[in-house]
Amino acid sequence: MGMVSEVKLIDENGLRIDGRKFNELRPISIEVGILNRADGSAYIEWGGNKVIAAVYGPREAFPKHTQNPSKAVVNARYNMAAFSVDERKRPGPDRRATEISKIISEALEATIFVEQFPRTAIDVYIEVLQADAGTRIAGLTAASVALADAGIPMRDMIAGCAAGKVDGKVVLDLNKEEDNYGQADVPFALIPRTGEVVLLQMDGNLTRAEFEEAIEMSTKAAMFISNLQREALMTKYSRAEEREETKEEPKNGNSGEDAHE
Ligand code: CDP
Repeated sequence: MGMVSEVKLIDENGLRIDGRKFNELRPISIEVGILNRADGSAYIEWGGNKVIAAVYGPREAFPKHTQNPSKAVVNARYNMAAFSVDERKRPGPDRRATEISKIISEALEATIFVEQFPRTAIDVYIEVLQADAGTRIAGLTAASVALADAGIPMRDMIAGCAAGKVDGKVVLDLNKEEDNYGQADVPFALIPRTGEVVLLQMDGNLTRAEFEEAIEMSTKAAMFISNLQREALMTKYSRAEEREETKEEPKNGNSGEDAHE
């Protein structure tokens, strides 16, 4: 194996290994309400990431000692499927998943009006089906949409993106190779309506100027993603409204639940 520095991540035209410019996001698509049993759900494809989020609640927290008399408790659980990475991932929680679950729970708690639902739990399940770097932000993005789909009152849906440094250059939304061989990765998320930063981590090192450049790019990207989240919700609920208006008869054998095209 050659040295890490021999891996070339940006070519002579300034393009990255997947052809993106330094400030370009990977393709993102969001679908709302993909599960019928959960109170809210969403599916996101973000570059090579495929992530499902499902929400239950607010419901009475159980066992009772987990209840908080003044607010809802937000329990996010991030999980990577065994088949989500190249080397089969050992199933079950590990240090990394525990950390990601904790920071996502804290981020979501900052946007949900938790004080409106004392003694309850809001459970958020994030299942990574395919991972290609940036899964914590993809998961948080999908979870926010799933919360909205569940009708849980909040300040705004959280949106975010990672930025980092590869080949000495600050770039947006690192993919797996860039994450592996780059010099820094900074996951970032905020509440778009208030501008409050609810998730910020840094793996690697950046100068102050590079850090500011990274945050500026991530903030712009988050605003773009915030619109995608809104559009995804509108797509689901305008479709539901149309069905209501035309009083569409259920098709043969269809229970009336969403039919997927
Ligand atoms: O996914 P995210 O960037 O939020 O977290 P990370 O800890 O920086 O992981 C980066 C990427 O490494 C993941 O998205 C996976 O593609 C990969 N990974 C892996 O291949 N095997 C693991 N056990 C954990 C992560």
